[in-house]
Amino acid sequence: IPVESFDCAVFGGTGDLAMRKLLPALFHRFLDRQFPDDSRIIGASRREVSDDTYRGLAEEALRRHVPPERFDLDEVRRFCAMLGHERVDGRAGDGFDGLARRLQDAPDKVRVFYMATSPDLQGPISRNLAAAKLVTTRSRVVPEKPIGRDLASARRSMDEVATAFSEAQTFRIDHYLGKETVQNLLALRFANPLIERTWNTDAIDHVQITVAETVGLEERGGYYDEFGAGRDMLLGHMLQLLCLLAMECPTSLDADAVRDEKVRILRSLRPMTAADLRSATVRGQYTEGAIGGRPVPGYLADLGGERRSTTETFALVRAEIANWRWGGTPFYLRTGKRMATKMSQVVVFFRAPRFSVFPADAGELQPNALIIRLQPDEGIRLAVMAKQPGPGGLRLSPTELDLSFETAFRTRYPDAYERLLMDVVRGNQTLFMRRDEVEAGWAWMDPILAGWAADPQPPRPYAAGSWGPSASVALIERDGRSWRDD
Ligand code: BG6
Repeated sequence: IPVESFDCAVFGGTGDLAMRKLLPALFHRFLDRQFPDDSRIIGASRREVSDDTYRGLAEEALRRHVPPERFDLDEVRRFCAMLGHERVDGRAGDGFDGLARRLQDAPDKVRVFYMATSPDLQGPISRNLAAAKLVTTRSRVVPEKPIGRDLASARRSMDEVATAFSEAQTFRIDHYLGKETVQNLLALRFANPLIERTWNTDAIDHVQITVAETVGLEERGGYYDEFGAGRDMLLGHMLQLLCLLAMECPTSLDADAVRDEKVRILRSLRPMTAADLRSATVRGQYTEGAIGGRPVPGYLADLGGERRSTTETFALVRAEIANWRWGGTPFYLRTGKRMATKMSQVVVFFRAPRFSVFPADAGELQPNALIIRLQPDEGIRLAVMAKQPGPGGLRLSPTELDLSFETAFRTRYPDAYERLLMDVVRGNQTLFMRRDEVEAGWAWMDPILAGWAADPQPPRPYAAGSWGPSASVALIERDGRSWRDD
């Protein structure tokens, strides 16, 4: 459904996120005629860049990040005609009058302020927007993660944003919620009674959530070294996945109904004690190794080789949800950079059968597992036991029911930001984080991060291209389980 015409100012408009994700996402939606071409998209940054230069930068970025079959030069130029750039210093407050002049002719249009900047600028930018009278009743703000460095600073930052924008105007983005396959978790659970009836600790032994990446620091060493895998991935993306997997069925798909249920899960997370930190978490940092046959340097070399750093690039946490549905079913959350392969998936391991009628030589009964592949090769597999065909008695072997979404639907998977940006214009907050969600996430993570920071032992090394430190395997094996990596 198309959205109405809007004005969007992107702070950090010349940065990596804007060029790699936001402009391509807007272009895809423009190409699909999802918004009118009298919308305006204004890059705001400290750089002195003319409108024309900005359009040129955008064209270049689209050439790089839009697949060739969707890159139509005429359409790209029509899209770029909607773009402009304003030199704005978010902290010092310079340039907001220029932005105000650009937008003043359309005070009734939906106005989006997207903060693709360093997180400590969210407060100052909001205050400056309000001072320049840029915040109208139809304005919305989109703070990117991370929000704060801990619970206290997250609260401060949210308080500052709240001086200019109400909660209903605040769209805290976590792009994992915009992924088709992540939303599909809701469909899978709540449109399929077969699955939902088994979705509890009576039937499920444990759940593994893995977000593995092969990339290293990319160009974001400064940011990443300050935040690490715990804040960059676990806190937002992985906890969001956990919420969607574990929450109760909401009363509707309205924003607050969904977010009420998510927050309940976050508040049910069993707090980690100091002893848990040793037995239920692992931190790692990659050292040199090889990925796909190509040698890659270690983390410290990626940082420039001059700094020592104890930032984790791998994090594993065994989370427990203390509620009736999930007591007794641990969720293992594991994420890392420079891992063996790029893969995000959830594996739900069902409990082993209580009794087997088959003779011992029929083969070992392996528990059922539901493997939900979020990316790449989106799809669902169900590991089942079957009779091996042929004579020679009843022999069992594990096999899989395999559903590939690509084959089933044969359609383009829109990028997460496409859906989310259009939802901001529509004013639909279902896929955005409410303040209490952010706070509940931090409240659980704070002791973990503080414990890691105080740990005299540095993160455990793992070779780039591996599945993380051996302690990660040891942790799950101590629980009598093992990782499923395929
Ligand atoms: C971002 C993190 O939010 O998500 C990055 O800051 C990470 O470090 C990225 O690489 C992963 O997103 P995706 O969509 O590639 O899984």
